[in-house]
Amino acid sequence: MLVEKNVPLQSFNTFGIVAKALTLVRLQGLADIDTLLADAALKTAPKFILGGGSNIVLTGDVKPLVLKVEIMGKQLVSQTAKAWIVEAGAGENWHDLVTWTLENGYPGLENLALIPGSVGASPVQNIGAYGVELQDRFESLDAVDMTTGQRFTLNAAQCAFGYRDSVFKHLSNQGSQPGFGLADKALITHVRFALPKNWKPVLGYADIEKKRLQAGMDHPTAQQIYDWVCDIRRAKLPDWRVLGNAGSFFKNPTVSAEQCADIIEREPKIVHYVLADGSVKLAAGWLIDACGWKGKHIGNAGVYERQALVLVNRGGQANPVTGGEVMTLAKSIQTSVYERFGIMLAHEPVVV
Ligand code: EPU
Repeated sequence: MLVEKNVPLQSFNTFGIVAKALTLVRLQGLADIDTLLADAALKTAPKFILGGGSNIVLTGDVKPLVLKVEIMGKQLVSQTAKAWIVEAGAGENWHDLVTWTLENGYPGLENLALIPGSVGASPVQNIGAYGVELQDRFESLDAVDMTTGQRFTLNAAQCAFGYRDSVFKHLSNQGSQPGFGLADKALITHVRFALPKNWKPVLGYADIEKKRLQAGMDHPTAQQIYDWVCDIRRAKLPDWRVLGNAGSFFKNPTVSAEQCADIIEREPKIVHYVLADGSVKLAAGWLIDACGWKGKHIGNAGVYERQALVLVNRGGQANPVTGGEVMTLAKSIQTSVYERFGIMLAHEPVVV
């Protein structure tokens, strides 16, 4: 177990914000977690778990103990009649895992190609893209309760997955009220995926359909979809290595059918999708775009000119955006969307 002091975090967050971890511990295996929890001071210290740093906004130096999860490994651990069960260490890079599964003949994660971040973070926000969410391919995960040292395994139902949501985003206590979450307790060490033997492509999403029609393919392979998803993402979303960002900054809001009908009357062009339960999901990117934010900026925090849902670091590494600037821009966007549409957007990244 390696304990480091005053560690610069700029290269550990995809926005490229400058901040320090007062104390950072690298965890490369279960033995490191045991060592950490055997240290009375470290065991009781408040903790912050750092994965790929692709979904955080740092607003200052991080005082809680930063746990950098570097548990590696990818392997086929078992199979059932229906699925290959692949396990990966929480520290693995997500996109590398997607690529590895396809190279080894286990399709199913191709729609989730090129999402930044680590394997351990993928269930936390139930990552999703182009019609597939992590929960559709999830089998189980292993975690450690950092308050007791106890190891445990959770299945999909126990993870309580929702849209960009899971048990890992909620606290175990809400003030004096008991909560259902594990955000302040669980450190995910390994994640297992069930990848279907009877694989079928997940098509239907507009951008993918466009690619399929262009290629004139009725039955694309998983590798073909992977290539299309990589092309679509590269065209629409900024590469954080070039232009710092944290992916979609806001969640797509859901409204009732009545609310939506009311908004459509005023805003006939609003992009919306009716969900199975009759509620309606609105495209937050469209709402922000309609308020004229695309390409605008406050200080070094900007709205990406090709996708208004993505906030970017316009100052690069040399003159990086601050977390304060990002949050000021985010609040201004929330206010203008609220004033025009009566909808309060919720941000996706964790503000530290
Ligand atoms: N749109 C605009 N203007 C914009 C942005 C979007 O008019 O500036 C419109 C688009 O034309 C489209 C609609 O809004 O009609 C939806 O846009 P898009 O297809 O780009 O998807 P999204 O809803 O903005 C979501 C996810 C992405 C995921 C894509 C593809 C959320 C918060 N975001 O974006 O996830 O890659 O769908 O499935 O659900 C992420 O979470 O970080 C992320 C990138």
